Amino acid sequence: MKSKELRKKYLDFFEKRDHAIIPSASLIPENDPSILFTNSGMSPLVPYLLGEKHPEGTRLANTQKSFRAEDIEEVGDSRHTTFFEMLGNWSLSDYFKKEQLNWWFEFLVEELKLDPNRLYQTVYAGSEFAPRDNESIEILKEIYAKYGVVAEEGPQTLGKGEEGPGVEIDFTRYRIFAYKDKNWWQRGDAVGELGGPDSETFYDTGRPHDPKFGPHCHLNCDCGRFIEIGNSVFMQYQRTKDGWCELKNKNVDFGGGLERLVMITEGKNSIFETDLFKDIISKIKELSGLKYNDNKKAFEIIADHLKAASFIMGDDKGIAPSNVDQGYIVRRLIRRAVRYGRQIGIEKIGWTPYIAEAVLGIYGEIYPELERNFDFIKDNLEKEETKFARTLEKGLKELEKISSSKDIDGKTAFDLYQTYGFPLEMTEEELAKKGKKIVDKEGFKEAMKRHQELSRTAAAGKFKGGLADHSEETTKLHTAAHLLLAALRKVLGDHVVQKGSNITAERLRFDFSHPKKLTEEEKKKVEDLVNKAIQNDLPVTFEEMALEEAKKRGAIGVFESRYGKKVKVYKIGKDDNIFSYEICGGPHVERTGILGNFKITKEKSSGAGTRRIKAVLE
Ligand code: ALA
Repeated sequence: MKSKELRKKYLDFFEKRDHAIIPSASLIPENDPSILFTNSGMSPLVPYLLGEKHPEGTRLANTQKSFRAEDIEEVGDSRHTTFFEMLGNWSLSDYFKKEQLNWWFEFLVEELKLDPNRLYQTVYAGSEFAPRDNESIEILKEIYAKYGVVAEEGPQTLGKGEEGPGVEIDFTRYRIFAYKDKNWWQRGDAVGELGGPDSETFYDTGRPHDPKFGPHCHLNCDCGRFIEIGNSVFMQYQRTKDGWCELKNKNVDFGGGLERLVMITEGKNSIFETDLFKDIISKIKELSGLKYNDNKKAFEIIADHLKAASFIMGDDKGIAPSNVDQGYIVRRLIRRAVRYGRQIGIEKIGWTPYIAEAVLGIYGEIYPELERNFDFIKDNLEKEETKFARTLEKGLKELEKISSSKDIDGKTAFDLYQTYGFPLEMTEEELAKKGKKIVDKEGFKEAMKRHQELSRTAAAGKFKGGLADHSEETTKLHTAAHLLLAALRKVLGDHVVQKGSNITAERLRFDFSHPKKLTEEEKKKVEDLVNKAIQNDLPVTFEEMALEEAKKRGAIGVFESRYGKKVKVYKIGKDDNIFSYEICGGPHVERTGILGNFKITKEKSSGAGTRRIKAVLE
């Protein structure tokens, strides 16, 4: 089954079961400093899973563009990518385990015609915070019975739940297995984040077990026999300082892997052979003159990374390669793809846009932003390739110099990696050409580990807060952001639109379109307008309406393609004295009076035609 048909089947299936089909959110999170990228369908929905009312109702479904940088090293095994589309359906305290598991199986077996004998399930084994999920086990047994499939609960021999069974498992009889940590899903670790036990579905590819991964196969074994295709999370807990507490909402958060389902239904062995990659792989073949089957890892890395980079740059927020945040990831993706390109003989600068063209061909209809932003994608790919070529040249000269008379050590190899982006293998290859080597590879690994630990510490400090943070301070700053946008438009003009925002409990960061630096006078006027609106203690209320109606009434919004058919519009002010009227999911404070004093602490450029303001409430 082709991707287009599968995507449609899934959405139709849930639409028939009263789900509102909502659009894919941006890959760049709005208002959420706790993650760099939207990494699952539930990410943008956190406020609603926490109880905020969603304008489209309590049953939602979509396909969501998702990106997981942490999977970058896994790419190359025919089933992992950094960018993927997640099929998602949600119950906001509406249906629960029984409906979810039954519908998902019905979809797999009756719509996609998968053989139920090939489907396996994991469930949560329990911990001190949440009980073992016996309820799902019973529901699953009934479902298997309905399809005439023998399905007993697997032996409890899984040690801590992760290392493997220690015995040979009879997979013709056992189909349901309980794991511990593997069957708990949470988006992040911060206090306030949501989580819950989950039930994952695996498909048996029929490939024999590879003993390299352990003596006995099990569902979470990495050998490739069982491949995860979907995950039903029973999102009913919230992170506290010292554990998890139960929410009053019993939500369902389901995520399925579109690429993997297409692979299975198309009867392929690799997601890179499906129609979601075919034209990209053909292009790489054409550019390199080599075959995918002989160069799988390089082909997969190039295809995945340039697809991901195209999607990130093709987002309406216009992320270009840089040395910080999302831009840094884009830079890494492009450079890593280029390096693997060199490895398979693609040397001529300016080839990466051809891959972006193939990406556009595959996805243009589903994600029109790629078309809108295609010149931006192409220009930045070209620029980055040129820059990287210069860096490589410099690095090669440096390597030549330091290795002219001696082998080099691991620490030096790491410095080359840090400064010029030379991966270990590339340095080794270059050295080998001259009969030299790295004397201690351990030194490289240690330096890398230290570096990663430091980055992690920095990231943990940097990305606090986020959508799960409904603390009073962030809510106040969220309302202040609406006042700020309204004030900017009053002072600078109606060309000002919001380009992005990022709120922590301490400050608000706000990007907007405006061609030049704000004068001191303009900044003062903006501050004064916001503070006046605060002093007037204006009421903050919202109404739900159709998107068209909201536009007709003059509501402003961030990115139109993000909204569903029905939206919430927040009004600050009353009757004939409305200060701000904006489409937004909330939450907000009830009156502006409690905000305190608004102060702009910084105003600077944030890319061409975009300014960035940082502000606080004192
Ligand atoms: N949010 C869940 C996941 O990403 C569905 O697996």
